[in-house]
Amino acid sequence: MVNLNEKYRPIVEKLKEEIPFEPEICIILGSGLGDFAKNVETIKSFSTSSLPGYPKSTVEGHQGYLHFSKYNDKKLLIVQGRIHFYEGYKLSDCVLPVHLAAKLDCKKIILTNAAGGINSNFKPGDLMLISSFNGISIKKELTEVLGLTSLTKRIDFIDFPSGEINEIIKTAAVKEEITLREGVYWYTKGPSYETKAEIKMMQKSGGDAVGMSTFHEAVYAFFLGMKVGAISCITNFAAGLSPTKLSHAEVMDTAEKVKFDFERLIKRIIEFL
Ligand code: HPA
Repeated sequence: MVNLNEKYRPIVEKLKEEIPFEPEICIILGSGLGDFAKNVETIKSFSTSSLPGYPKSTVEGHQGYLHFSKYNDKKLLIVQGRIHFYEGYKLSDCVLPVHLAAKLDCKKIILTNAAGGINSNFKPGDLMLISSFNGISIKKELTEVLGLTSLTKRIDFIDFPSGEINEIIKTAAVKEEITLREGVYWYTKGPSYETKAEIKMMQKSGGDAVGMSTFHEAVYAFFLGMKVGAISCITNFAAGLSPTKLSHAEVMDTAEKVKFDFERLIKRIIEFL
């Protein structure tokens, strides 16, 4: 088991000395959604490369910043630069932004991502509230990170994601007149996109969207006592549901097109949180 407190103590200590405030809400921005950070007043930014031992995100669209920002009198930690398991990092690295938020006493987190649409009613550009996760492919590895070595410490996934935050997300969408889909996010380790057969299996088993992030962050945040909300931006039809080849460029293109709706939605959510 990795002791995350030990591993990340230097980053936590540096941040505690230098941050302008303890954040109330953490927002992790998904692929192509990083521009949201421009919508709020940035009080202080840290390049992740200036934080001792912070892994470098190698994926285009993840810039590598922690912003301490304000919007509507709310104190925010905005993470631009997620760390993915498929980049070859350990899960203990991937949950670092969540660990930092928790150590800075943040109690609420909104996780966002780009995802492939599995549900046949979804189309690229849709936004989806994540009502539940399927993370069976990585649950065992999470055990190591969470230190759940005995059966008595098993997590009960009750109110995960948070019912209260979900209601706020839905109300925010209504207020902004944004059609909000709702569904199950199916986590895959990647790094490749899925096969047609894999998507068919996920579809039959209740998956609505597929992606390679978020699940472990959500579980870790929940484990640390944070209220979790999560939103997917459907950037493409999942592999096999469209005749065209899927690429990260397509993911980034769609995220760029939907970013104004996404930004309006997140601002309203912050207001209501
Ligand atoms: N599959 C997995 N991850 C993704 C996808 C997808 O179709 N789109 C964006 N991230």
